Amino acid sequence: MMRLDRILANARIGTRSQVKKIVKAGRVKVNGTVAPSSDIRIDENTAEIEVDGMPVVYEQYVYYMLNKPAGYITATEGSVPIVMDLIDEAARSMFPVGRLDKDTTGLLLITNDGPLAHELLSPKKHVEKEYFVSLAHEVSQEDVRKIAFGISYDGEKYKPAVYKKISDTSGSIILKEGKYHEIKMIFKALGNHVETLKRIRMKNLILDPSLKEGEYRSLSVAELTDLRSSLQPSAEDSSNEDPEHIPAENQ
Ligand code: URA
Repeated sequence: MMRLDRILANARIGTRSQVKKIVKAGRVKVNGTVAPSSDIRIDENTAEIEVDGMPVVYEQYVYYMLNKPAGYITATEGSVPIVMDLIDEAARSMFPVGRLDKDTTGLLLITNDGPLAHELLSPKKHVEKEYFVSLAHEVSQEDVRKIAFGISYDGEKYKPAVYKKISDTSGSIILKEGKYHEIKMIFKALGNHVETLKRIRMKNLILDPSLKEGEYRSLSVAELTDLRSSLQPSAEDSSNEDPEHIPAENQ
């Protein structure tokens, strides 16, 4: 059971205050009868809801792909520019999945689907995150080898990552964890400095290259289905293959 105004806001009819007005104006019918007020509780799964005679499709969850611009903090609250300022509908309890630094750009999934976010962020899932990185100095073969081996720096241990060179001072890097400032720290450890960082992929979800910075769009059904199925446990996901779970006798 859910309040009518919440269902209508979730279905993108308008913000909570806009949908209240629409209901008040008598434009909403529930099971063929004009809804008396927006705070009535109805079964979102079975009720037939119409606005101006058009059926409303209820969506419990929303999924947006945002191309995050620099200068925005990955947060849901705060006075400084936050990524949620870029999303028009504030009516739903959406949040960004994972954090990007203020100066990092690129792919940020914004959703209200807690279980999916949990799967994507769970350290046990080793979800791949791919970034495009440009650097102040050349990245050597020795650096690439060190990154692949795993870097320890300033009391922190970063798991093996894959760096692929694009030019002397740029490349793509794939991480399977998400420690604070991870990429910046990895390159700092190598005496280099990250100039720009852009996330281009999370698991099999690829940033739509047609999205300009600050723009977002809903995930397509195919993107969502592929993302969900990629998170299903497969036969190869046995914990024995996890380098972090070395059987006791081998330690
Ligand atoms: N690594 C970083 O250093 N910053 C990010 O925003 C993401 C990964």
